[in-house]
Amino acid sequence: MLAGNQGRWSVLLAAIAAITITTSASAQKAATGLPTDAEFQSAMQRAYSANKAVTEGKNADYIPALAKVDPKLFGIAILTVDGKVYSVGDTDHAFSIQSISKPFTAARLMSEMGVQKMEDKLGVNATGLPFNSIEAIERNKQQEEPPTGNPLVNAGAIATVGNLKAANADARWNSVINNLSAFAGRNLSVDQQIYKSEAETNTRNRSIADLLKAYEVIPGSPAEALDVYTRQCSVAVNVKDLAAMGATLATGGTNPLTGKTVVSPDVAAHTLAVMMTAGLYEDSGTWAYDVGVPAKSGVGGGIVAVVPGKYAVAAFAPPLDEAGNSVRSQRAIESIVKDLGGNVFHVAKRPAARPSPR
Ligand code: DON
Repeated sequence: MLAGNQGRWSVLLAAIAAITITTSASAQKAATGLPTDAEFQSAMQRAYSANKAVTEGKNADYIPALAKVDPKLFGIAILTVDGKVYSVGDTDHAFSIQSISKPFTAARLMSEMGVQKMEDKLGVNATGLPFNSIEAIERNKQQEEPPTGNPLVNAGAIATVGNLKAANADARWNSVINNLSAFAGRNLSVDQQIYKSEAETNTRNRSIADLLKAYEVIPGSPAEALDVYTRQCSVAVNVKDLAAMGATLATGGTNPLTGKTVVSPDVAAHTLAVMMTAGLYEDSGTWAYDVGVPAKSGVGGGIVAVVPGKYAVAAFAPPLDEAGNSVRSQRAIESIVKDLGGNVFHVAKRPAARPSPR
């Protein structure tokens, strides 16, 4: 008899606990407008399991040190605007940030010179061409557009660095690294092996910097701009750092981990707009159409995507597709954003409009 009562009590208590968990999860969702912990976890785990064994793509090898990175590495991290972190896989592995640095330094330049001047000087349109295209510079010049195209291709990013206010190379570097660190919420530093390898082989970027000097887009020394740009690309980050950087844009410019304001909401919005149009280079249109969130990739294998007002998701897996975007990172982020309904172009279903009473 006693045993029977105990059994009924434990069933009742379990039911109450389940209702409490469900209610608090819905309350959490209603209060924050964010997916619940369980939804974040399951979307992330699903993306990780589905893509872990994918072997498509190839490490970048035009920077020799990148060819040596273990192609099996794979990690995902999500950071919400209220500072919650979810992560899976090789989340502490440090890799070079590469082009993912570009929008964050562009945000700094926008803060310094104003969003309009940045647009006039460097442009904000997609080039439709590879990230290191010299043809794009010439085409833009002929069409009387800013030769750089936008701050996310190599030309625009080298010019971004070259246009930061700085009295000398050290000041320029400090401006770049302090800004990237503020976005990440911790002091970042350069991976010297990657920097050396890239500095020894970046002849194409050198031509780009010199051409931009000839077109009067870089005010000072093109060699200095190129060197600081190369160091910027060699900064070591992990996926959690990238998620923090993206989440700082998702909040409108305040780092959710440190509480520090890094850029204004206006600068954050303009940065996200350029990421939407040019973040994945010639595949940016496909990405916007298929996934619908601003994102930025790097040839180190990282990608960060931002769902404004909600969260950022970052992934890392070295093998790249033809455009230079990580295959597994793209697929993992697409899967998570779809599962969590993050596409910024999707409008939540509203109740059908009722005719107004006469
Ligand atoms: O300048 C370069 O070519 C590299 N440091 C960065 C290129 C890059 O990451 C393009 N991203 N997909």
